[in-house]
Amino acid sequence: MSNETDHDRPVTVDQEPGPTRPGTDASRSLRSDVAAEAVGGGAVPIAQVGTGTQAAEAAAPVTASITVHGTRGEEREDFTKAESRRLRGRSLSLLRSLAAPLKARLWGIAVVVVLSTGGQVAGPTLIAWGIDNALPAVLDRDDWMPAFLVVGLYITIAIVGAVLTAWYTVLAARISQAILFDLRKRVFLHTQRLSLEFHETYTSGRIISRQTSDLDSIRELLDSGLNQLIQGVLYMVFTAVALVFLDPTSGLVLAIALVPLWFLTRWFQQRSQQLFRSTRTTSARVIVHFVETMTGIRAVQAFRKESRNETEYGEQVELNRQANARVFNLFGIFDPGLVLIGNATLAAVVIVGGFRVVGGSLEIGALLAVALYAKRFFDPAQELAMFYNSYQSASAAMEKISGVLEERPSVPDPAKPTKLPDARGRIDFDHVEFAYTADRVVLPEFDLHIPSGQTIALVGSTGAGKSTLAKLMARFYDPTAGTVTLDGVDLRDLDPKDMRRAIVMVTQEAYLFSGSVADNIELGRPGASRADIESAAKAVGAHEFIMALPDGYDTDVNKRGGRVSAGQRQLLSFARAFLADPKVLILDEATASLDIPSERLVQEGLETLLADRTAVIIAHRLSTVAIAHRVLVMEYGRIVEDGTPADLIAGTGRFAQLHAAWRDSLV
Ligand SMILES: Nc1ncnc2c1ncn2[C@@H]1O[C@H](COP(=O)(O)OP(=O)(O)OP(=O)(O)O)[C@@H](O)[C@H]1O
Ligand SMILES: [Mg+2]
Repeated sequence: MSNETDHDRPVTVDQEPGPTRPGTDASRSLRSDVAAEAVGGGAVPIAQVGTGTQAAEAAAPVTASITVHGTRGEEREDFTKAESRRLRGRSLSLLRSLAAPLKARLWGIAVVVVLSTGGQVAGPTLIAWGIDNALPAVLDRDDWMPAFLVVGLYITIAIVGAVLTAWYTVLAARISQAILFDLRKRVFLHTQRLSLEFHETYTSGRIISRQTSDLDSIRELLDSGLNQLIQGVLYMVFTAVALVFLDPTSGLVLAIALVPLWFLTRWFQQRSQQLFRSTRTTSARVIVHFVETMTGIRAVQAFRKESRNETEYGEQVELNRQANARVFNLFGIFDPGLVLIGNATLAAVVIVGGFRVVGGSLEIGALLAVALYAKRFFDPAQELAMFYNSYQSASAAMEKISGVLEERPSVPDPAKPTKLPDARGRIDFDHVEFAYTADRVVLPEFDLHIPSGQTIALVGSTGAGKSTLAKLMARFYDPTAGTVTLDGVDLRDLDPKDMRRAIVMVTQEAYLFSGSVADNIELGRPGASRADIESAAKAVGAHEFIMALPDGYDTDVNKRGGRVSAGQRQLLSFARAFLADPKVLILDEATASLDIPSERLVQEGLETLLADRTAVIIAHRLSTVAIAHRVLVMEYGRIVEDGTPADLIAGTGRFAQLHAAWRDSLV
């Protein structure tokens, strides 16, 4: 997959923070990516979306070619000429890469469409010939041969035309399905590969509208629009040619009619471009608003935000309705305008032709054919205008999708991965500094060395930077400066598979995928046996509650009755991590939802689990700290205390205060 998208990579300066190396390891299995579960914790990223995007935009340098790089500037409508050209170029190269594997079929369809349109256009000429030549032959000489010939030919052409059209329809549908399938897959695989940073700023609503409404408008273009365009243009050209050959004078009348047609179409295009764009942006906003409400439905209901949402949603829908209404108004003028021009032309052709038939310079059959041609000439005009509409939305969709595909993971896979199949679990932070956005350093420069096998408790107040440190350690982000190494190998150079096997992070939002309980635990080590799954569950104390579920380990976690509580979810993600058996385990508030007995149970399991591995436990409950060899206290992004629990408690520092307060709370 990566090969197909990487070659379109534009030669602009890469503005992603941190070193960017294009990902190459397509074989990397994301299913085994236990740590990826942190991505599933939807609540935090969504809450941060607003500030994240603004900050990212503020940090972006103001250079013309850069402002439209990737998904940046996606919501804008005021593109400069250079920017529009770049967007078009990007869409085109995506289109080319999609069409490339279908070249042979595309040529096939071109031949079929030329033949079938030619057949359709031949009809009136045959009728004219029949009336002017075959009919007189029957009447004058009782010679039926020409009549049979014409009728036979007409029927043959009609049958061949029908067969060709059927063939064409199937072929065109197959091609459009193939393109859509490819595109859908590319968007999915690509967004899945993009780093946490992208997903924290690009809302799920926007990703969903890429996958739904944008792909839909491309489908619409491919399914009907493109057919209409090709057939319509060919039809008009063939008809005009036939008319000119049959009767040049009538051709001239038609040529005159082209003038008002041109003006009307141009007027329509200019007006509609803007209107169609606003229907698209308003409908995208409706989707985004809908998705965000539904993903945050708990918060919405808990804070009684329904009525405000209702008003907001109502406004979005109303704006969308107004935009659509304006489009329909436009069609209200355009459609009758087309009909008027068509009928006036037909009348002119018939009047001019009628006089000439009376004068003897035109035969009656030819007049009939000319009238038929003149009438049918305008038929595709409206379809062409509609095509323009679907073309507009499809090209806007293409611009956005190609933008997503242009995004590079901010945490790219290494070009030359270093293998580390048997990691020992030593972690070193050397001169590491980290900032999410250029304007605020979250972790000022620090060093931290964790020998293998050490269990560390990381404590500190909310917002101190504990999760950030953990995310650096699990390489969800790369440091702004300095290096994070595992056994001396920079995480940026480490084979992603080896890294994900060695380092596993379990977060508070233990995400469960659809499927059975066993499936969810198995994610830790794909292919694990049922016995292994059960012993992992037993080790973390999840076995009992799983057995109490309706179907035990086979209970569907998303079905009624199979729903598990937050604490149980955490136990499951523990079992998952246990099964994964990583060298380095990071638990970010992973025990926060457990009640005291469960937590104790887990802690007993934890002690065996942590026995020969490096572990970092982030917990507000100090009971968890008891099993740690070493405690780190963080304040404002800095590690302010570092020592054994006993030493720190004996001292007078921050941890001693925290511990005293905690002990008092227990009494
Ligand atoms: N994705 C992000 N983009 C920008 N800033 C962020 C992002 N995530 C966290 N921050 C900021 O970084 C700082 C540290 O956050 P972090 O999540 O590491 O805190 P924490 O110590 O884990 O807090 P808590 O105990 O509440 O989980 C905070 O000030 C937060 O606002
Ligand atoms: Mg945190």
